[in-house]
Amino acid sequence: MDFSSNGTEESELYGAQIHLYKHVYNFMSSMALKCAAELGIADAIHSHGKPMTLSELASALKLHPSKVGVLHRFMRLLTHNGFFTKTTVPSSSSSSSQNGKETAAAYALTPPSKLLIRSKPTCLASFVLGALHPYAFEIWPSSKKWFTEDKEVPLYESAAGESLWDFMNNDFDVLALFQDAMTADSQTVELGLKGCKHVFKGLGSLVDVGGGTGAVARFINEAFPHLKCTVFDQPQVVANLTGTQNLNFVGGDMFKSIPSADAVLLKLVLHDWNDELCIKILKNCKEAISGKGKEGKVIIIDIVIDEAGDDREITELKLDYDLVMLTLFNGKEREKKEWEKLIYDAGFSSYKISPVFGFKSLIEVYP
Ligand SMILES: C[S@@+](CC[C@H](N)C(=O)[O-])C[C@H]1O[C@@H](n2cnc3c(N)ncnc32)[C@H](O)[C@@H]1O
Repeated sequence: MDFSSNGTEESELYGAQIHLYKHVYNFMSSMALKCAAELGIADAIHSHGKPMTLSELASALKLHPSKVGVLHRFMRLLTHNGFFTKTTVPSSSSSSSQNGKETAAAYALTPPSKLLIRSKPTCLASFVLGALHPYAFEIWPSSKKWFTEDKEVPLYESAAGESLWDFMNNDFDVLALFQDAMTADSQTVELGLKGCKHVFKGLGSLVDVGGGTGAVARFINEAFPHLKCTVFDQPQVVANLTGTQNLNFVGGDMFKSIPSADAVLLKLVLHDWNDELCIKILKNCKEAISGKGKEGKVIIIDIVIDEAGDDREITELKLDYDLVMLTLFNGKEREKKEWEKLIYDAGFSSYKISPVFGFKSLIEVYP
């Protein structure tokens, strides 16, 4: 919304009020999306094979008949937000008529809701449910207390009395939910990796540090079957995972040491930590690739804030992400100059940033 024009006092007041209220109620759009993912609305429309009327949708979702009107209002917001489109289908029992034929309003999928179809190889439904889990919201009543405390802990720890890592590591269901969300996010990287084959050329081995359940390592392994991939994560994350001939899982602590390889991959790992801890991780990465001399590299997939270069929507997403990392983990999203400082402070000599994964970038770092 543009507030720079010299509007009348009245138009300025109402414009400002609309802006403010819109931000107050932004969470309703998030929650409507969560309901869509939970109910499986995209799956129902996808299985139907063509646009669905409201009553078809309500019956496929097995909603109580009294909730058809409620569904209509959720679909209206979700359609406004670009998750569905409204079209018409022929109907025998409809009130409207087009060229003499009876029609009914029906909902069709759009590219964002197609990302919620569970039977597709790239599905972000688990990401939506993981990111919007109550643990991310229940901390907010403590935000004022957190701002006045002299403790360098994330809001999560101030509110819950333990770190989110400890909470997840003690609750298998929440840990599984978090790993499912990250695995879903990793599926979106496959397409971008296809255009980055040169990055992996000449490498014999790679260790994916904080690699979770190994989704990215599996894509790399499929594209480069000769490359020996190791997924390195906390012991409780990799305990029950089985590898293949060229893909193995190793449990450990990246703050202590990292298995040796020609290259180290860090996807969405450094944004979880403050600068001091990132330098520790990067120094351990440098040690891990030292056997390959100057040809070793660290491959980072992460967010680079670029307010001048990015459009508004992408910057808003990156800044939202920054507060998620700050409040949950004491981590941060970084601008180019902050990445550069981290990389040089950890003892590396050069780096190259390429924006290849939508809002995420590829950062190649050389010893
Ligand atoms: C945000 S997730 C990223 C997962 C994966 N790279 C991805 O993008 O899907 C961060 C990962 O770091 C792992 N991690 C946290 N502390 C670790 C440690 N001390 N040593 C090794 N891995 C750790 C977590 O278990 C988690 O899988």
